[in-house]
Amino acid sequence: MIQKLTTLDGTPISRFAFGTMQFGAGADRAASQAMYDASRAAGINHFDTAHVYTDGASETFLGEMIAPHRDQVFVATKAAYTGGSTRATILSSAKTSLQRMKIDVIDALYLHRFDPDTDMHETFGALAELKQEGVIRYVGISNFAAWQAMKAVYMANMADLEIALIQPMYNVVKRQAEVEILPMAEDMGMLCAPYSPLGGGLLTGKYDGKGTGRLTQDARYAARYDFDYMHRAAQELTRIAAREDVHPATLAVAWAAAHPTSPSPILSGRSLEQLKPSLAAIGYDLSDALYAELAGLVPAPPPATDRAEEA
Ligand SMILES: NC(=O)c1ccc[n+]([C@@H]2O[C@H](COP(=O)([O-])OP(=O)(O)OC[C@H]3O[C@@H](n4cnc5c(N)ncnc54)[C@H](OP(=O)(O)O)[C@@H]3O)[C@@H](O)[C@H]2O)c1
Repeated sequence: MIQKLTTLDGTPISRFAFGTMQFGAGADRAASQAMYDASRAAGINHFDTAHVYTDGASETFLGEMIAPHRDQVFVATKAAYTGGSTRATILSSAKTSLQRMKIDVIDALYLHRFDPDTDMHETFGALAELKQEGVIRYVGISNFAAWQAMKAVYMANMADLEIALIQPMYNVVKRQAEVEILPMAEDMGMLCAPYSPLGGGLLTGKYDGKGTGRLTQDARYAARYDFDYMHRAAQELTRIAAREDVHPATLAVAWAAAHPTSPSPILSGRSLEQLKPSLAAIGYDLSDALYAELAGLVPAPPPATDRAEEA
């Protein structure tokens, strides 16, 4: 069983994480610092970045911010979004991440996505080398299906490694992770840190009017959420939030965290103003009735096996 994840000074990692994908893009240096400081003030010590984010600015900014208290924060980055999960890609990505963040050790290194073309012996051999050299502490996987994750567990074990973290997409309108990933993570003792708790901004309600943002600016996100039923669910979420006198983003983040397996959502924004309602979810007490009401906004995904009607 994988031990509870800690920062270098032995502190357990926080229930929520903060993601720095906007550092150096949507958020300039000052806005990034403000969000980092607010996250720390809210008790967050788990920070998420990736080699591929914002041409390296995300890792560079984050490295500058953590420098005064490196041992008190848990830094997760990702490798091999491009270039395949080969030994060469992983080693060079980890080296670049260390250099950009000016750190000696990466707390968690994720494979950013499943690579069907590289033998996992090679992938986990490279990660084992990094672990033996003390360059990484934990290994994670992101955007893996459950069968790919369990194959990774098996292949990692052969290299004397464990998969300690998994990072799927998960929010009120993207619930595939409920079917296998969340129960698998709980069963295997992996920390599940889901991304996009606001559906990239959809669940703030701003696209109900003339709002602009990632969904109007990034074709990948537009495609991801370009379904009428998702936009209707976002409208309904906004209506429920008004009734409850709370920001829709607070409800959306609290809902993602309230899954019975207790995942650790990765919060984010492009400004402190945007981030505030997400941070408010940390102290928001979501009732069982409200959890169920929000879960009813879209149909639950079908189960992984086909005899559910007999249960
Ligand atoms: N492993 C992966 O493949 C993967 C993929 C994506 C993200 N991640 C990680 O997860 C983190 C969070 O993901 P995410 O950014 O997709 O999370 P999210 O919470 O679903 O979306 C955040 C975005 O929503 C909009 N937003 C947030 N608060 C708002 C508010 N109060 N009012 C209006 N708009 C608001 C902003 O975008 P706009 O201003 O542009 O609308 C903001 O950047 C990332 O930083 C990254 O670390 C990982």
